[in-house]
Amino acid sequence: MAGQLLVSGFLTALVASISVSAAPIIAKRNPYSFVLENPFGDKIFELGNVSYLANTKHPKVVVGCEIKGTTTTLPITVVKTNVSAITKEVLEAVIASYLKVDDVFTFDFLDGLYISSTVPASMDASAANYLSSFNTSFIFLGESVSADVSFSKISIKSSPDFPAGPYLATFGSGSVSLATIYRLYPDTYRTFLFGAYDSNDGADNHHPLGTFLPKMWDNMIPVPSRIYYWGDDRPLAGERVAIKDLYDVKGLQTSAGSQAWAYITPTANVSAPSIQQILDLGGVVVGKQKLAQFASGANPWEWQDEHYPFNPRGDGWLTCSASSSGGGCSIAAYDWLEYAIGSDTGSSMRRPAAVSGTYGQRPSQGMISLDRVIPLGAATDTAGVFSRDPYKWIKFVKAWYTPSLYQPPSITGLSPLEVPDTDAFPKTILYPVDYLPLNNSAAEPILQEFIASLTRIFNMTVKEFNFTSTVGNWTDPVARNLTTLSAATNVINSWTAWNVVGKPLITAWNALFDGRFPPIDPARRPGWISFNESRYNQITYDTALVTKKRGVDWYEENLQYSTPESCSESVMLYDIGTGGLPSFREQALNDSPDASYLAVLPTGAKITGANICPIFGCADFTIPIGQVKYFSNVTFHEEMVPVTINMVVKRGCDFVLYNMIEKLADEGVLKTVKTGRTAF
Ligand SMILES: *[C@@H]1O[C@H](CO)[C@@H](O)[C@H](O)[C@H]1NC(C)=O
Ligand SMILES: *[C@@H]1O[C@H](CO)[C@@H](O)[C@H](O)[C@H]1NC(C)=O
Ligand SMILES: *[C@@H]1O[C@H](CO)[C@@H](O)[C@H](O)[C@H]1NC(C)=O
Ligand SMILES: *[C@@H]1O[C@H](CO)[C@@H](O)[C@H](O)[C@H]1NC(C)=O
Ligand SMILES: *[C@@H]1O[C@H](CO)[C@@H](O)[C@H](O)[C@H]1NC(C)=O
Ligand SMILES: *[C@@H]1O[C@H](CO)[C@@H](O)[C@H](O)[C@H]1NC(C)=O
Ligand SMILES: *[C@@H]1O[C@H](CO)[C@@H](O)[C@H](O)[C@H]1NC(C)=O
Ligand SMILES: *[C@@H]1O[C@H](CO)[C@@H](O)[C@H](O)[C@H]1NC(C)=O
Ligand SMILES: *[C@@H]1O[C@H](CO)[C@@H](O)[C@H](O)[C@H]1NC(C)=O
Ligand SMILES: *[C@@H]1O[C@H](CO)[C@@H](O)[C@H](O)[C@H]1NC(C)=O
Ligand SMILES: *[C@@H]1O[C@H](CO)[C@@H](O)[C@H](O)[C@H]1NC(C)=O
Repeated sequence: MAGQLLVSGFLTALVASISVSAAPIIAKRNPYSFVLENPFGDKIFELGNVSYLANTKHPKVVVGCEIKGTTTTLPITVVKTNVSAITKEVLEAVIASYLKVDDVFTFDFLDGLYISSTVPASMDASAANYLSSFNTSFIFLGESVSADVSFSKISIKSSPDFPAGPYLATFGSGSVSLATIYRLYPDTYRTFLFGAYDSNDGADNHHPLGTFLPKMWDNMIPVPSRIYYWGDDRPLAGERVAIKDLYDVKGLQTSAGSQAWAYITPTANVSAPSIQQILDLGGVVVGKQKLAQFASGANPWEWQDEHYPFNPRGDGWLTCSASSSGGGCSIAAYDWLEYAIGSDTGSSMRRPAAVSGTYGQRPSQGMISLDRVIPLGAATDTAGVFSRDPYKWIKFVKAWYTPSLYQPPSITGLSPLEVPDTDAFPKTILYPVDYLPLNNSAAEPILQEFIASLTRIFNMTVKEFNFTSTVGNWTDPVARNLTTLSAATNVINSWTAWNVVGKPLITAWNALFDGRFPPIDPARRPGWISFNESRYNQITYDTALVTKKRGVDWYEENLQYSTPESCSESVMLYDIGTGGLPSFREQALNDSPDASYLAVLPTGAKITGANICPIFGCADFTIPIGQVKYFSNVTFHEEMVPVTINMVVKRGCDFVLYNMIEKLADEGVLKTVKTGRTAF
């Protein structure tokens, strides 16, 4: 009895707390409108102007009940309660809570109601009248629930345990099957190759959706109801995650952005361990995203096989940068998407994050397994995730980057990775005068304010230094020679990509098509037409790993090192973006003095800032800190371009840097960025 009182007390509080926003009664419920059955036997339908997918081939649950006769399909809402008196207020509160957190559920799912209670319960006249106002046609009653209602009642024989939320009910003979609902969002910025969803086939396969909205050519991306994940306490439960199309997801084709590669390779029959980890943590894979072909650094105007994605920021004509471009721009674009997985070999997470004004990182070398991920450089590749929200970003990585998935020294060529999760914060802010200040003088004050916050909050000291001359003055002739170290990185990237991708592709295509060379983008074609196996081979690769380790060891003793107080004594700042200037998808627009190309080598520097961590193994995060104006020659209107800064710490100090970022968010220095034209 006491328990029941407590529960109804809780519900009263819930009703009171949301009564302000209590669901309004709608004038007309949109009817179920069947569109098509997809090749996997799942149904696409519309309710009003919104499209949905229902996993009808492998429904979530099949419930035994007394139904005879014709097959009917209708959208229903599953409600679970703990109360004995099911009143209008009870239903209203539940529905209001659904509407508040979920973008999939709508009133249109009230064609039927499935209600169960953990205690013997009855539905009163107020609840029945409330449902009548929606023209609800069926009510499914759990074993312990009784109701005096005028519309069709169906008694459930046994109440299986499955999540509340919207479903598509299909009546059979003696049973009703309930299929999971996905809302289909148009990929208006064309950042995806295709949407995908969990097939629920019991074998962990995902299915590609492959559905377009013909009016605007948009791919449709399926996202499941968030209500299904209530009570699921896994760290990423119900979080929607898009995947760069380099990573295997069981049941989906991996293309690396190349139709030729897709042609010669089978559909993935196992998910990459890094993706499996996301699924195990409760994350929902919603589709595969565009990338510069084979993770190259191709400029937007060099894309041939895929159409280049659009950046929602500014005038809509800004670059998304190279390789993980689809991921960064999608996170800047869509509120319905929480995360996008990318990879970074030379800049491919960090620069897309910079131009889209989102959070994105290159983790320490070796942070997570890249098995079943198409490689560029086995010992330079890393995996990262884009996010708008610093807290969500940190929540994701702390669950995702787990010691069991660290790469062994046999892959990285470096010492085993250790990643302390402490507040042993850096004491020094390294400000490299060869990479800073920011190119746009209107952006530098934003950086200076950020630096002032760092010094205030963490009692840090700013140290200006010249990176190029500091490294050049080391006594070790290999470690101080940035030309030698860059050449080693080049060997690592060239050999792996050729050995694992280029050579097999060219060989297979040659055999299939009478000696023809495969159709590939110009970023890779010249290098692969005349690949020099005397220069790039397993022996030079192994030598390059030794060279790389020598550079990393010197860096960690002389530039960014650990002390008893700090994991990384310093955090180094630089900008991987454009320093607050717009950079465009259309080449000629970048020739103006008020615009910029990407990856410009600053005068006096030997390598771009982007190349520091691929060479030295360090962790490098892109952090959005503001925005500046420009006058657009595309919209002929004033627009905003994001300003970001890169924070670099010694290899292994990632979690200390995340803790620092969390503190900056607590202090209001870092914020969640918005989707759309402006980040702030
Ligand atoms: C219920 O049906 C009536 C009669 O067809 C209609 O006028 C009304 O708009 C419907 N209400 C809803 C919420 O769909
Ligand atoms: C869809 O319909 C709703 C009302 O039923 C309306 O508010 C919304 O703007 C419409 N959306 C589109 C994209 O047409
Ligand atoms: C019902 O009560 C149980 C135990 O107190 C609780 O875990 C569960 O969340 C409640 N369910 C609902 C729908 O309120
Ligand atoms: C996946 O397919 C490959 C061949 O493409 C096969 O060798 C392997 O056994 C399959 N693995 C599983 C788990 O089915
Ligand atoms: C701040 O750092 C300086 C050394 O740079 C130190 O002398 C001082 O005690 C520190 N202040 C606080 C509040 O920790
Ligand atoms: C590097 O060495 C040169 C020549 O000795 C010296 O002028 C310069 O200041 C040194 N640079 C740094 C950053 O120590
Ligand atoms: C760096 O090494 C290259 C050979 O890789 C050599 O040609 C060059 O002179 C070296 N530079 C310096 C500054 O030692
Ligand atoms: C291939 O590489 C070797 C070793 O670096 C070099 O001697 C040779 O000239 C290269 N061949 C071509 C065609 O560039
Ligand atoms: C726009 O075009 C004008 C005239 O060619 C040029 O001066 C200006 O720099 C351009 N602005 C940008 C942001 O590229
Ligand atoms: C800064 O912008 C100018 C063009 O306005 C360009 O020449 C220069 O290379 C840029 N510097 C960097 C570091 O991007
Ligand atoms: C940094 O040092 C390099 C190498 O000594 C030099 O070429 C460059 O001009 C210096 N840059 C600045 C901004 O001092």
